[in-house]
Amino acid sequence: MKKAPLNVVILAAGKGTRMHSGLPKVLHAIGGKPMLGHVLERASALHADRTIVIYGYGGAAVPAAFASAAVEFVRQEPQLGTGHAVQQALPHLQSGGTTLVLYGDAPLTRLSTLENLLSRPGLRLLTATLNDATGYGRIVRNKAGRILRIVEEKDASAPEKAICEINTGVLCAPTDLLRQWLSKLTNDNAQKEYYLTDIVPLAIASKTAVSSAQPSDEWEILGVNSKDQLAYLERVHQLQNARDLMARGLTLADPWRLDVRGELDCGNDVFIDVNCIFEGKVRLADNVKVGPGCVLRNVDIGAGSEVAAFSHLDGAVIGANCRIGPYARLRPGTRLANEVHIGNFVETKATELGKGSKANHLSYLGDTTIGSSVNIGAGTITCNYDGANKHRTVIEDDAFIGSDTQLVAPVTIGRGATIGAGSTITKDAPAESLTLSRAKQMSIPGWKRPVRKNTK
Ligand code: UD1
Ligand code: CA
Repeated sequence: MKKAPLNVVILAAGKGTRMHSGLPKVLHAIGGKPMLGHVLERASALHADRTIVIYGYGGAAVPAAFASAAVEFVRQEPQLGTGHAVQQALPHLQSGGTTLVLYGDAPLTRLSTLENLLSRPGLRLLTATLNDATGYGRIVRNKAGRILRIVEEKDASAPEKAICEINTGVLCAPTDLLRQWLSKLTNDNAQKEYYLTDIVPLAIASKTAVSSAQPSDEWEILGVNSKDQLAYLERVHQLQNARDLMARGLTLADPWRLDVRGELDCGNDVFIDVNCIFEGKVRLADNVKVGPGCVLRNVDIGAGSEVAAFSHLDGAVIGANCRIGPYARLRPGTRLANEVHIGNFVETKATELGKGSKANHLSYLGDTTIGSSVNIGAGTITCNYDGANKHRTVIEDDAFIGSDTQLVAPVTIGRGATIGAGSTITKDAPAESLTLSRAKQMSIPGWKRPVRKNTK
């Protein structure tokens, strides 16, 4: 049996005056993703047949931010209320099924909550009972508990204001009935707006069942109107991330101090210390340890490797049992085989290190291919840039590069070669030989340092 079509209408036309921002409100990010992106993700997880975003403030910026998404954008101008907003979507709805209305500035509603809402027929409202219901539309029920209508704060009487059950704004209804109800809305209210909420009495009049569902957590229904609320939902979202990851076995020093702004995938017995940031796609295999204050973006780390404190890894693929940091910087194109050590103040870019190679202190390794069991001495620099072009350095297996060496690329250091400390290497160094380039050491006995002349 073919399922009835599902339309999802996302209201996102509001200006968000209290954000004090040039960016449309729904483009502000939670967990590194625009709020509207989270809501679109729900629509897609629900397998919506049509997804329509009602936008307004910010003009083309909202559709432009989601150019590739399978979504229709409809501009609402002027913005005459939530009912008027849904009216704009009507020509785009697929008839015969259900329409779900979501808000683009309420990003954290659980998928299961929406599925539960959609699981029964009629007009279904997502409601919540709050200690402080100020500002929300209130759910007015009769003595038998049946929903009669929704009254907005600005239109509510004192007894109605005392109601704690609120309208979250999320609702679903049979599409064909919704069309009929929306055509009958008026703006006869305190705000002179076309209220979507006024469909409730119209549904009752058309003998449609009106019922409600609740989310399991209060934060699911919270919207964002200010930077303060944005920051609050960010922490809620991050704590949920942390809990999901811990449920799958991750050990966190402090779930309140984790920031995932992308996808984090962890094996068994992974440990993450406090204040780490994960961006893009990060994969940590079994037994990986990440020290405090690390930033990892698009990184793949093999089993048993450790990243010590304050390391910054971007676009790197790291093998098993490596030791990185503290204070290491791995830039895009870094590839480390197993058992590689990269120590403090070492920067790598477009560089490969073979199995068991070490660069433990104060180095820049750019555009370099390093074999296995190579030792890179402290202060070694690959001079990969001649001011116009980048050149590669090749260091073959078992080479030993003495401290404070400059390797002027293009240059190759042969297998098993030793480079004497303090050398500037401009030509290829042969295998199994000592190569060095430095002035001979000499001493001048009784040498007097210049003294400062008395100028007066
Ligand atoms: C609305 C509900 C209220 C509910 C509250 C929950 C109505 C009449 N009221 O009130 O019952 O408790 O949300 O937060 O529906 N929007 C448009 N176009 C418009 C007006 C609004 O796209 O013309 C969008 C806004 O961008 C926002 C959402 O609809 O995402 C809600 O609008 P808002 O003005 O915040 O509604 P409230 O007055 O808070
Ligand atoms: Ca609101």
